[in-house]
Formats: sequence, structure tokens, C-alpha cells
Amino acid sequence: MLLDLVYDLYEYIFSNPLETQALILVSFITYYLFIYPFFISSLRNVPGPYLHRICYFTALNDQRKMRWITKVHDLHAKYGNIVILSPNEISVNGNAKFITDIYVKNFPKSKFYENFRNHGFKDNMFASLENDRHIKYKKIVSNIYSKSAIFSKTNSTRNNLVKKVGNLVDAIYKSSVDDWFNLANKTKNLGIDVYSLFASLALDVVSAFELGNENGTDLLSKPEQRHIIVSHREVASMVFWTTLMPRFWSWAAGSRILKASEDVTKWQLSLYANAENNVPKFGKDENLTTLESFKKAGITGEYAYSFLTDNIFAGHETTAIYLTYLCYELSRPINNSVQLKLQQELIQQFSNPVKGAVIDDLEIVDNLPYLNAIMNEIGRIHAPIPGAEPRMVDKPYSIRLDNGEYITVPTGTTISVQPYSMHRLENVFPDPYRFIPERWLQYDDESVEDFNQRIMKQQKYMMPFGKGIRMCLGMNIALIEMKLAVANLYWRFGSKLCQDWCEITEYNNADSTEDKVKPNVIQLGKQFAGNNETDEEKMVMYDSYTIRPYNDECWLEWYENFTQ
Ligand code: HEM
Ligand SMILES: *[C@@H]1O[C@H](CO)[C@@H](O)[C@H](O)[C@H]1NC(C)=O
Ligand SMILES: *[C@@H]1O[C@H](CO)[C@@H](O)[C@H](O)[C@H]1NC(C)=O
Ligand SMILES: *[C@@H]1O[C@H](CO)[C@@H](O)[C@H](O)[C@H]1NC(C)=O
Ligand SMILES: *[C@@H]1O[C@H](CO)[C@@H](O)[C@H](O)[C@H]1NC(C)=O
Ligand SMILES: *[C@@H]1O[C@H](CO)[C@@H](O)[C@H](O)[C@H]1NC(C)=O
Ligand SMILES: *[C@@H]1O[C@H](CO)[C@@H](O)[C@H](O)[C@H]1NC(C)=O
Repeated sequence: MLLDLVYDLYEYIFSNPLETQALILVSFITYYLFIYPFFISSLRNVPGPYLHRICYFTALNDQRKMRWITKVHDLHAKYGNIVILSPNEISVNGNAKFITDIYVKNFPKSKFYENFRNHGFKDNMFASLENDRHIKYKKIVSNIYSKSAIFSKTNSTRNNLVKKVGNLVDAIYKSSVDDWFNLANKTKNLGIDVYSLFASLALDVVSAFELGNENGTDLLSKPEQRHIIVSHREVASMVFWTTLMPRFWSWAAGSRILKASEDVTKWQLSLYANAENNVPKFGKDENLTTLESFKKAGITGEYAYSFLTDNIFAGHETTAIYLTYLCYELSRPINNSVQLKLQQELIQQFSNPVKGAVIDDLEIVDNLPYLNAIMNEIGRIHAPIPGAEPRMVDKPYSIRLDNGEYITVPTGTTISVQPYSMHRLENVFPDPYRFIPERWLQYDDESVEDFNQRIMKQQKYMMPFGKGIRMCLGMNIALIEMKLAVANLYWRFGSKLCQDWCEITEYNNADSTEDKVKPNVIQLGKQFAGNNETDEEKMVMYDSYTIRPYNDECWLEWYENFTQ
């Protein structure tokens, strides 16, 4: 009986091959386009567009086209707090609980991160996916990156920071004040590109931190060596291919990028080799560099270099972006009051600026209220890493959809929160697109208790450095480095947008409220760059892994004697 049936089937298939193929194809298509997404997938009730439900194409294509973060942001606006991104991936928003569940309770990283391995795919802190492997690495170096080690007066990091920030102030003085300020009536080519300058600061700091104060770079004093920053930038611009299409990397990279990539690797290896040749035979445990700590733990050669390279990539572009947008926002005519208020705070604390002096009191700088408010606000609207930080669900995770229904997100699903969107929740950050440092300070009519409650709530939604165990390892050094730089710069100088760089957008900022025009916010996504003429257009942030400015530059003028 059964045999007959099988036989009949065979006969049918052999006599009607075309029809059979068509039938199989149709069943396949029906299954994947209809039955699976609507009846079988555990994510079938998660809202979102149909195309995202059935394929990975839109997610990949939008990332390649650099419009994905804004797209996900818009999807949340349209479909609610939980949306489907691709057949196996969801994005969640709107509730700090998600940050706790995913990042603090620590779902392992998704495969996205695996491709941040360096020097022949060797593992490192950032790229390790599994929690136990990550913890093992973290134990080796976490004490060096701790706030107490960085602030310690007997450790070398503190001196490193003060020295490098001193070099920064000198570089700005030379380029903006010395070179042109005293030249009578010079009006052209004023100012300096702070994006490259801040990248130089960050690379000098991080390389000395990794390799020892004597073995790091000195780009701040040696501008002719800064080309290596441009090469790093070119490699970083390939992040889509590096992380999502690694097999097509070489194909997508033009000869320029291939060359930049070679330059970067060669440069890094020679930097490390130089440091290796400069280790005291019996080094003391104090002032251990990152490299020495790894070597002591048995991680040597290229296995150790992968960690260093990771820090160089993770640490210098992000820091440069943060500082650039901070100084940019303070230099916009519309925000002049913010700059003045910061300068008042600094002068009140450190009295009038003195030529050649550098503010070196890390503890005071760390606790300046207005400086902190500015730092928080930049971290909110110009978070250098704004997009999803994807994790993999490793045990079934129950979530509540906006319609009240509970679903269980199955093991293996990719899940993420997008800082860009969390930072722009209207009910947590009123007028969320505006740069308003005051939202981090106590309002006039607010009790201390209400103020503390509000700040605690706001902080719960902030993740410029990520959250939880995989949070930025370099955060303590980055934060105090940036605060020290900003404090010193605005103590000594005032800044303005460079007149020769672009058309400066001025707004009627008169006190008469009727005709006050609201300034444009600096948008994410190159589609907003318009004619690439005004400062607002030139400072459009790339919709990419990092938000580097549209033209990889930001020209500011710095001048002294702002107090008169
Ligand atoms: C303003 C500057 C910086 C920003 C905004 C920033 C941001 C971030 C973010 C968002 C993450 C988490 C990524 C994720 O979970 O997907 C991260 C991780 C990391 N960052 Fe940073 N970072 C900065 C500076 C630095 C510096 C200076 C260093 C090194 C000295 C550094 C080293 C790392 C490392 C090693 C990780 C991986 C940590 C782990 O997986 O345990 N970062 N950073
Ligand atoms: C100094 O740095 C080392 C790591 O090199 C760290 O173990 C130590 O705790 C630091 N000292 C202080 C006082 O923080
Ligand atoms: C660590 O570095 C600091 C500052 O450079 C220095 O004063 C101290 O002597 C160093 N400690 C050791 C044990 O080398
Ligand atoms: C600079 O400009 C002022 C007035 O515009 C003029 O009196 C002065 O001679 C100029 N100085 C030089 C060096 O050209
Ligand atoms: C680099 O320079 C420091 C001095 O700042 C030295 O003690 C250290 O051993 C050198 N090399 C390495 C690999 O850190
Ligand atoms: C600063 O400029 C922004 C434009 O990004 C504007 O919305 C904001 O009101 C200004 N902030 C202050 C405190 O003037
Ligand atoms: C924007 O304009 C500048 C000149 O003002 C030009 O150098 C730059 O390439 C332009 N940027 C883009 C992305 O077209």
C-alpha cells in the first residue's frame, strides 16, 4: 500500500519533472515568504515592515548606504518600542529595563564583534563574544583602567594626561594665536582643524598609556606624522565590510584603502616593536603598561598586539569625535552663552588664565558641575557610537509588546538597544534634539530631591559608553582626558567657527521671544548635508558605526583675552 504510493509519486516526478520543480519551488516560496514569518517564527507578532521579516537585505543595504540608524529610529517612531529588523533580529527601545536586561545582565555579544579581531584574526577584549573568555581578559588589565589607578599621583597615567593636554594647548596657541593673531590684520586661513588635532591628542594619550610614556606617539608636537590618523580613518570607513561582509572586504576596498590598511598595520607593528625593545629587564609592578600586563599573563606577540590595536581603534576616533562636537557646539553663535558660562566656571575655580600654565588638578576638573553638564549633553546627542550594540539571546527572554502581549524571544535571536534612540526619548529628555546642558543641572523651581530623581532617571537611559560588563574599558581615561582638555582650552581661549571654512549660520537670538528662530539641530545621515556650505551642513554626523563629521574636519578659531 505505502510502497504503491511511493511508487506512484516517483512515477509522477519522473514523468512531470517541470511541474514537480515548480511545485517544490512554490512550496518553498510560500513557506519562507508566508508560512514561516506569519505562523511559525517566534517573532511573528513583533511589529515591523514585511520585508524585514523575510530577509536580511534591507538591514544590510541600509547599513551599506549609511542610513540604518535613522531608519531604525524611524521604525521605532512608527511601530513602537519593539520592532523587527531582520528575520532573526529585533531592536528594543523606550524602557531602561531593556538596558538592564540586555547589557547589565549581559547577553553575550553577537557575531558582529568577531570581526574586530586584529593581526590575523587574533582575539581581544572588544571582539571576544563569550562571557567567560571576556572576563579572563578583563581580569588581566582592569586595574590599570580603573579610575583610582588613573587618578593616582604615584602612577604614570596622570602625568601622561597632563603633559599631553599641555601639548594640545601649545598646538592651539601656535596655530591660532601665534601664527596669525599677532600678524596685523590677517583675515584669511585662520583657525585649525580640531578633528585631526583631537585625534592626535587621543592617539598620543592612548599609545603612551598602552606602551609607556616614552614609547607612545607625539603627533601633537609633530604635525608631519599626523598622516597616520588619516590612514586609520580610511580603514575605519570600511566598518560595514569589516564587520558585516568580511569576505568581500578586499573586493570593496579600493587601492587607496588597501594601501592605508597596510600602512596602519606596519605603523602599529613598528610602534609595538619599538616599545618591546625598551622594557627594563626587571620591571616593577607599578606603572605597568597594558602591553606589559598582557605579556606577564602569557599573552605575547601578535596575540598581545591585537589588544593594543583594538584600543587604538576604539580609543582615538571616538575621543576625537566627542571633543570635536563639544567644541563645535560651544562655538556656534547660538550657543555663545554656554561657552561664557563654562569660562566663568573655570575662572571662578582657577582664577585668571596664565600663559604657559596648565590646569592639572584632575579631582577638581572631574567635579566641575557645568563642565559635567556639557559633557553629559554631548554624550547624549553626539554619542560617538550611536547605533545598535548587538547581543545574542542565550536563554529564552520574555518581553512585553506595546499591545500588552508577551512573547518569548528565542535563543539565538540578535537583540539590541540603539543609544541614538534611547538618548532621544521625549519623556526622559524633553526637547530631545536640542543641545541643552542645563537639563543636567538643578532647575530653579526644583527641589534637591526631585533633581536627584530626575538625574538618576536620565542616567539610566544614557549609554554613550555602552552599559554593563562590556561597557567601555577606556571610559575613565577618556572622560578625564576630555574634561582636562576642555577645561584647559576654555580657560585659556575662546573659540569661534572659522570664518574662512564655511558659511556660519547665525540666528536671531534676541531676547524678544516673538522673532526668535530655532536653530537647526545637527542631523545624523549624509542625506542632510544639503549643499555642504553652512556649518550645520558640514557638521552632519555620518550614520555609521561612529558619527565622524561629514567632511572629517571642523575648523575653529581660538583667541585669547576673551574676558575683556
Ligand atoms: C569618548 C571616547 C570613547 C567612547 C565614546 C567609547 C565608547 C565605547 C562603547 C560604546 C563601547 C561598548 C561597545 C559595545 O558594547 O558594543 C566601548 C567598548 C570598549 N572601549 Fe571604548 N570608547 C571611548 C574611548 C575608549 C578608549 C580611550 C579606550 C582605550 C583606552 C577604549 C577601549 C574600549 C574597549 C577595550 C572596549 C571593549 C570593552 C569590553 O568588551 O569589555 N575606549 N567603548
Ligand atoms: C597603579 O597602577 C597599577 C597598574 O599599573 C595598579 O595596579 C595600581 O593599583 C595603581 N596604583 C594606585 C594607587 O592606584
Ligand atoms: C610611576 O610613575 C610615576 C610618575 O611618572 C613616578 O613618579 C613613579 O616613580 C613611578 N613608579 C615606579 C615604581 O616606577
Ligand atoms: C590694519 O588695519 C588698520 C585699520 O583697518 C590700519 O589702520 C592699519 O594700518 C592696518 N595695519 C597693517 C599692518 O596693515
Ligand atoms: C616603554 O616606556 C616605559 C617608560 O615610560 C618603559 O618603562 C616601558 O618598559 C617601555 N616598554 C613597554 C613595552 O612598555
Ligand atoms: C545651543 O544650540 C542648540 C542648537 O543645536 C540650540 O537648540 C540650543 O538652544 C542652544 N543652547 C543654549 C543653551 O543656548
Ligand atoms: C564639501 O565641500 C568642501 C569644500 O568646501 C569639499 O572639499 C568637500 O569635498 C565637500 N564634501 C563632500 C562630501 O562633498
